Amino acid sequence: MRRKIVAGNWKMNTLLQEGLTLAEEVSKKAEKSLPENVTLIVAPPFTHLPEIKKILPQGIGLAAQNCASESSGAFTGEVSAAMIASAGAGYVIIGHSERRQYFNETDADLNKKLKEALANGLTPIFCCGENLHEREKGIHTEVVREQLERGLADISGDEFSKIIVAYEPVWAIGTGKTATPEQAQDMHNFIRTVLKNIYSSETADDTTILYGGSCNPGNARKLFANADVDGGLIGGASLKADDFLAIAGSF
Ligand code: 13P
Repeated sequence: MRRKIVAGNWKMNTLLQEGLTLAEEVSKKAEKSLPENVTLIVAPPFTHLPEIKKILPQGIGLAAQNCASESSGAFTGEVSAAMIASAGAGYVIIGHSERRQYFNETDADLNKKLKEALANGLTPIFCCGENLHEREKGIHTEVVREQLERGLADISGDEFSKIIVAYEPVWAIGTGKTATPEQAQDMHNFIRTVLKNIYSSETADDTTILYGGSCNPGNARKLFANADVDGGLIGGASLKADDFLAIAGSF
């Protein structure tokens, strides 16, 4: 089902106590100002998940930022989808460009991670997006199409209906350079076309597609006003409860 969602990706920020304070602030402010039709999700570091779960109200979703592509076993340092679910999270971000870029995660790895997440009842937030070079070469749609087709290989329409997609142009992440509302709308619309080809028009229409990349309280309204933009995946601005809630109030 298509929903309005604002998710905060905290990345590798906050010590446990700081994370708890931030989660508490977000919860309190959400109670006062979160529009009823908007779902809020926070994605703190792994170490914080069980503690934050304890203090988060039911209505706010909890996400991990990554999961292993394997189920269990000798994979030192990895955290499985089942472990994430057992820590109380309901969502997991998969394929963030920082994972693709710095940890060499391939489309095939991400495909396995998506399947692991789905098999363990987690809702994946599956990220795609081109880098600056690809945008300048004019191959951005091709890049995103391939990321989707390869990442979603052998995932049925039924399974896919649980997935949230996030379009995050790499050149807009943490750079202060946001995509224009037109660029975001064009790509989100293109993503729906790709999903229609893989699955069906109905599935494409029902998919929640978030925009991410230097989204802030000043630009969220214009981004979210687009027909195919269903919300945001927020980095830097999600570390400030006021900004995060202001973004969530921007529909
Ligand atoms: P910024 O909002 O800091 O640009 O980060 C976006 C992002 O990567 C969210 O996953």
